[in-house]
Amino acid sequence: MSAYKIEEHSYDVVVVGAGGAGLRATLGMAEQGLKTACVTKVFPTRSHTVAAQGGIAASLSNMGPDHWQWHMYDTVKGSDWLGDTDAMEYLAREAPKAVYELEHYGVPFSRTEEGKIYQRPFGGHTTEFGEGPPVQRTCAAADRTGHAMLHTLYGQSLKQKAEFYIEYFATDLIMSEDGVCQGVLAWKLDDGSLHLFSAKMVVLATGGYGRAYFSATSAHTCTGDGNGMVARAGLPLQDMEFVQFHPTGIYGAGCLITEGARGEGGYLTNSEGERFMERYAPTYKDLASRDVVSRCMTMEIREGRGVGPNKDHIHLHLNHLPPETLKLRLPGISESARVFAGVDVNKEPIPVLPTVHYNMGGIPTNYWGEVLNPTADDPNRVAPGLMAVGEAACASVHGANRLGSNSLIDLVVFGRAAAIRAGKVVDPEAPVPTANKASLDKAIERFDHFRNLDGAVPTAELRMEMQKTMQEDAAVFRTDKTLAEGCRKMAEVAGKMGDLKVTDRTLIWNSDLMETLELDNLMPNAMATIVSAEARKESRGAHAHEDYPDRDDKTWRKHTLALVDGAKVTLDYRPVVTDPLTKLEDGGIDLKKIAPKARVY
Ligand code: FUM
Repeated sequence: MSAYKIEEHSYDVVVVGAGGAGLRATLGMAEQGLKTACVTKVFPTRSHTVAAQGGIAASLSNMGPDHWQWHMYDTVKGSDWLGDTDAMEYLAREAPKAVYELEHYGVPFSRTEEGKIYQRPFGGHTTEFGEGPPVQRTCAAADRTGHAMLHTLYGQSLKQKAEFYIEYFATDLIMSEDGVCQGVLAWKLDDGSLHLFSAKMVVLATGGYGRAYFSATSAHTCTGDGNGMVARAGLPLQDMEFVQFHPTGIYGAGCLITEGARGEGGYLTNSEGERFMERYAPTYKDLASRDVVSRCMTMEIREGRGVGPNKDHIHLHLNHLPPETLKLRLPGISESARVFAGVDVNKEPIPVLPTVHYNMGGIPTNYWGEVLNPTADDPNRVAPGLMAVGEAACASVHGANRLGSNSLIDLVVFGRAAAIRAGKVVDPEAPVPTANKASLDKAIERFDHFRNLDGAVPTAELRMEMQKTMQEDAAVFRTDKTLAEGCRKMAEVAGKMGDLKVTDRTLIWNSDLMETLELDNLMPNAMATIVSAEARKESRGAHAHEDYPDRDDKTWRKHTLALVDGAKVTLDYRPVVTDPLTKLEDGGIDLKKIAPKARVY
C-alpha cells in the first residue's frame, strides 16, 4: 500500500514518550553512546510528569532514620502483596542512587537548613517495617517535583546528543513475523508526514490511560498509547483492574492536590467536622495508603457525611498551617485551590473528592524494563526488541496499589535500569533491522482506515460513553453487578469503533484524527480493565469488591494477563515473583518480614 510517502530513520534505540521515564531512559541510552531517538507527541517538558507534585521516594535518611528495607516493606504492603519481590527490592535499593544522580544532573530540590535534600512524609511510608512512626522519605522540589525533573532530564538528554522528534505521534509497533519489535511508525503532526523509526530496541514510555475515565488528574494526553500498540501487537496487558483513585482531586475540576499537603500536616474532615481518618486508620490517620483513604472518604459520603449542598465531597484543611509553610512547601497547590476551587488555603478548606490518578497495570516487564510475553512454561519470557518503563509498564512494583511518591522513583529507577540493560543487549555495531513489510503495511492501513472513517458516531461522543461507563462501573467500590454491567456496556461501546465519523481528512494538525487514534488506544485499556476487574473475585489494593470484601491469597495472589482483540478480551494469569534479588545471607531482606498479612494502617 502506499499513497503515503514514508520517511525512514535508523537508531540503536527509539524511546517513545518524553515524560520522566522516557527522558531518564533516553539520557541513559545516550550516555552509553547508543544512537538514541526520543519520539514524543508533546513537547518533553509538557509531558504529564510535569504535573507530579509531592515528590520522589528514597530512603536518604535526611530527616531521620530510614532504610531501603523499610521502603521495600512499605512498597510490598502498599501493593497488597501483588508486587514482584525482585522488582520491589530493586526499586527500594536503587532509589537513593537514582535520586543523587538527579541531584547531580541539576534537579533543584528543596533543602533542609543543612543544605540536604528536603524530604516530607507521604501516605503509607513508615519506619521499622510498619511498626514505627511515619517517615520523611519523599524528596521534594516544593510541590513541583515533576516539573523540576523534566526540565533537568531534557536538558541533560540534549547535552548527550539524544535526538528528539517532537510532536510525532507513534501509531504502531513494527513487528517481525517471529515477534521481534523492529521499530515504530509515527505521524508528524505539523506537516502530516509519516515516519518509520527502525531500531534495535524500542522503549515504550507512553504513560498511563487515566483518560479512559471521566474524571482524572491525568492530562488529556494520557491515552495509554503504548498499551494500545502492545495490545494490537498481540501482547498481553497485566493487572489492568488496579486503577488508583487519589484521595484529593479538587471537587468538580479533578486537578490534583498533592498528598504532600497531608504530609505537611493537612487533614480531612466530614460534614460533622470530624477528622474521620482517625476512626479508620488509628495509627497513620490521614497518612494511610491512598487506596485506604479514598475508600474511607467514599464511605463517609455514602453514609451521608459528605460536605457541600449535595453532601458529595470532603474537606481538606490546610488553613491551620503557618502561611510561610504553605508559601514555601505548597505554593503550586495553593494556586490550584485558588484558581480551580476559588479557595484561599490560608482561610478555608479545599473541597476534594477521590479522582482517578494512576494505573498500576500496564505492559508486563521484568525489573530491567524488558517486555514479557509469558507462556505457561515460561511466565518470564522476554519479547525481543521491546522495553516499557514508567506508568505504561507493570514491572510490577506497585502491585494492587501504588504508594504516593513511588511513581517518580519508579520512572527514574526503571528508566535508568532499561538503559543499563540496553547497554548490555544492544550491539552498536550490529545492523538496524529492516522493517517487516507486512507489519508496516498493516500500520499504514490502520492509519488510513481511521483517517477515512465515515460512520455515524463522532469520536468525542463515543469517548464520553466510554469514560462515563468506566467511571460508573469500574469505580472505587465495585460489585459483581456493576462489573458485569460494565463489561456488557464496554463491549457495546468498543463495538462502535468501526462506526466512528472522522470529519477532517487532512494530515496537518488534524486533532480529529489524532483524538480518534487516541480513542483507539484507550479502548483496549478500558476493555482490559473492566474484564480483568470482573474476573477477580476478591478485594486487594485498589480493587475493592463489595461481594468479596477479603483478600484471597490462595486463589488470587497472581497477575492478570489480558489479551485484547477489539471487544474481545481473553484472560490468563501469571505467578507473582516471590523470590528476592538478594539472599538474606548476602544482605537481602528477611522474607519473614514481608510475608503476607492483614493490611492495616
Ligand atoms: O499527591 C501527589 O503528590 C502525588 C504523588 C504520586 O502520585 O506519586
